[in-house]
This record gives sequence, structure tokens and C-alpha cells, in this order.
Amino acid sequence: MTDVIDGNALADQVFDGVSDAVDEFEAEGVTPGLATVIMGEDPASQTYVNMKQRDCEKAGVNGVHVEVDGDASQDDLLDTVADLNDRDDVHGILVQTPLPDHVDEREVMNAIDPIKDADGFHPENVGRLVAGEARFKPCTPHGVQRMLAHADVDTEGKDVVIVGRSNIVGKPLANLLMQKADDGNATVTVCHSRTTDLEAKTKAADVVVAAAGLPEFVTGDMLSEGAVVIDVGINRVDADTEKGYELVGDVDFESASEKASVISPVPGGVGPMTRAMLLYNTIKATRLQTG
Ligand code: GUN
Repeated sequence: MTDVIDGNALADQVFDGVSDAVDEFEAEGVTPGLATVIMGEDPASQTYVNMKQRDCEKAGVNGVHVEVDGDASQDDLLDTVADLNDRDDVHGILVQTPLPDHVDEREVMNAIDPIKDADGFHPENVGRLVAGEARFKPCTPHGVQRMLAHADVDTEGKDVVIVGRSNIVGKPLANLLMQKADDGNATVTVCHSRTTDLEAKTKAADVVVAAAGLPEFVTGDMLSEGAVVIDVGINRVDADTEKGYELVGDVDFESASEKASVISPVPGGVGPMTRAMLLYNTIKATRLQTG
């Protein structure tokens, strides 16, 4: 029997913890606040940010949403970030990526006050994570860790293959899972577009995390019997639906679930957990700024 991880149910547990924390802060006269910033009109980004704002409302977090015109300058965006850094009612800040081409993403991440960095992308927080002293774990890797723990997957001594080397998922997740802390202790291999014989590597893995941004890229014949499969992908592919597209993961669920002992679906897997961990980081940021 394949265990399909219910990311929505697990995210609801995290949201409940966030709501309790919000109540405790309210009793002290503090409302945790999260600012989301979007620049430009990328439809997928707008959907994600809208969902994040709805999550804030649900959990009682003060959601502040700022839209910056796609034609505005990088300095305009940096001014927006500086204003949010100064606001006492904003404890966490997220600038949705991708940003327009004329904006240097790194400079924008560097401008966020590290103690308000709900994404964990500021170099100070990246450094802390790599050093094994994470302050804000990036939301998706943290969500994946929670999902593995929930499914009773102990990664100690296990071979984990991560397909994808992004700053948002692959790199931080590799760092977390190889560390002694948090029940990591895994042997981690990070694969990417230049990896030779990817299939040999995924086939030898106890755990495969697909985070390459390629629709249904990891198939059942690339897995060993009983593998644990976590699908981080959210890809829009053309389909005969009302919206003209459907969302699929980086894993071909049908063939992969025939081999896997544990698998996460798309939608309803990593996505909701990523959003839940964002609010978790917002609570942590509030604690750091008010404690
Ligand atoms: N774009 C896709 N995922 C993310 C994320 O986790 N944070 C931000 N800021 N932008 C994203």
C-alpha cells in the first residue's frame, strides 16, 4: 500500500498552531504581520500571493499586500522594502519571485531586514542555515522535512536524491537533510540538468525529492521499489479545462505511485505545506522582534 501524504491536512495542523500563537500575541497587544510584495503581473505569482494573503486572514495574521508596477524601477522596489522594514506592524516580508528582468533579485533579497526575512533568502539567513544554525528555514524545504517526519520517514543514514539545485528548494533542503540536527543525517546527492545518468542515481535512492520544475519528469521506472517520493513541482500545462491549463507536479504520479511506499501528490502536497511554513516563519519573526 502506498501512503499518499495529505499536505492539506498536515498544513491545517500547522495553521492551528499559528492561530494559537496569534491568540497569545493578541493577548499581549501584538498582531503578527506579514507583508507580501509583488512586482509585475505574472499570473502564477499573483495566484500564489493571493493564497498567502487568504492564509493570513484565516490565521488572524495582519496581511499587508503591496503591488509594485512592473515598469517601476529597482529603486522603487527597494524603497518599498525599506518602508516595510521600518513598519512595526510588519514582522515578516516576502517579495514574490520571479521579479522583472531589469531587477536584480539578489539585491532585493539583501535589502530585506534579516529578522523579517520570512522566506529565509537573505544571505545572513542562508549562512546561518548552512552553518547549522538556521533562523528561518526556507518554507518549501521546511515543509518537506515536516512531511517526511509526518510519514515516519527517518532519513538517518539514507540516500536522498534531490533533483534540482535551486536556491529556494534544492540547495537549502540538501543542507538541512545532511545536517545532524532535525533528524537529517542523510547522505544527500543533488542532481541537475548536467547530471549524467540521473536514472542510476534516482534508482539507488531511498528518498527522491523532485524539484526541477519539469512536468512529470520523474517516472516510476526511475525509482526503486519502496522509494519515498516528494514532489515539489507545480507546473502549468495546457489542458482542455475551463482555465486552459492544469497543474501537474515534477513526478508522474501514476507510474511513481506503483513503486513508491510514500508519495506526495500535486496538488495537495508540498504546496499547502510551503504556505503553512511561511506563517510559521512569520510567528517566529514576531517572537524575535517582540521577545
Ligand atoms: N516564488 C516561488 N516560490 C517562492 C517562494 O517560496 N518565495 C518567494 N519569495 N518567491 C517564490
